[in-house]
Amino acid sequence: VTAHFTDGPLTGRHVLVTSGPTHEPIDPVRYIANRSSGAQGTAIAEALSKLGADVSFVTGPATAPRPRGPRITEVETAREMLTAVEAALPADAAIFCAAVADWHVVNAGPSKMKKEAGGLPALDFAENPDILATIARRNENRPRLVVGFAAETDDVVAHATAKRARKGCDWIVANDVSPETGIMGGGHNAVTLITEDGAEDWPRLTKVETARRLAQRIAEALA
Ligand code: CTP
Ligand code: CA
Repeated sequence: VTAHFTDGPLTGRHVLVTSGPTHEPIDPVRYIANRSSGAQGTAIAEALSKLGADVSFVTGPATAPRPRGPRITEVETAREMLTAVEAALPADAAIFCAAVADWHVVNAGPSKMKKEAGGLPALDFAENPDILATIARRNENRPRLVVGFAAETDDVVAHATAKRARKGCDWIVANDVSPETGIMGGGHNAVTLITEDGAEDWPRLTKVETARRLAQRIAEALA
C-alpha cells in the first residue's frame, strides 16, 4: 500500500529509487561496504512522493530514517538489490542513489573467521553486477529517465561525464567527496547535474533541498 501525500506533477508516475550502502558478507560478523548514510536517497524518495509519484524504494542497510510515502524493500547485498530492482520495474524513472559495493566475497561462509587460526584471511573477490548499467542498457522495460549518482574526487565532472557514457544513463548527479569539501557524511550536498546538454553546477544546499530540486527536474522531464 502506498501513501500519496498529494496530487502533483508526478501523480500516476512510478519512480524507483535505490539508496544506502550494500553490505557484502565476509563471515557472519564482518562485511565490506561503501560509506553511505542513505540520507540523500531518503530525501529524494520523499521529495518524489510529495510531488505525487508512486515511489518504490529499494534500500541497503542505511542508518538514515526510511522515507515516508514510498513502498520499501530492504536488501543487504548488491545481488539482492538487483533482484529487488528488477521486481519493481516497470517504472517511468529510476534514480540510483545507492552506494553499491563493487565486489563481494566469493568464499564468505557460515563460520566466523578466527584470529587464533593464524595468518591473514584469504578473501576471494568477484565483481558485483552493475545495477544502474544493467537497467540503463537494456531494451525491454527501460525506464524513460535513468539517473545515476557519482561520488568522485579529483576531476569530478570529467569522471562523471565518462561514467554517464559508460553506463548508458540519461543523467548523472555528481558530487565532490574530497575530504576538504566536508560533503561525505554531512547534511549538505553540492552537486553537478550532467545531462545530454552538459554540466550544471548547483549551489551547496541541504540534502533535502537538493532532493526537492532534483524531483522538480524529474517531474519536468516526465511531463
Ligand atoms: N552502481 C550500481 N551498481 C553497482 C555500482 C554502481 O547501480 N554495482 C550505480 C550507483 O548507484 C551510482 C552509479 O552506479 O548511481 C555510479 O556508482 P560509482 O560507484 O560511482 O560507479 P562505478 O562504476 O562503480 O565506478 P568507481 O570505480 O568510481 O566506483
Ligand atoms: Ca563503485
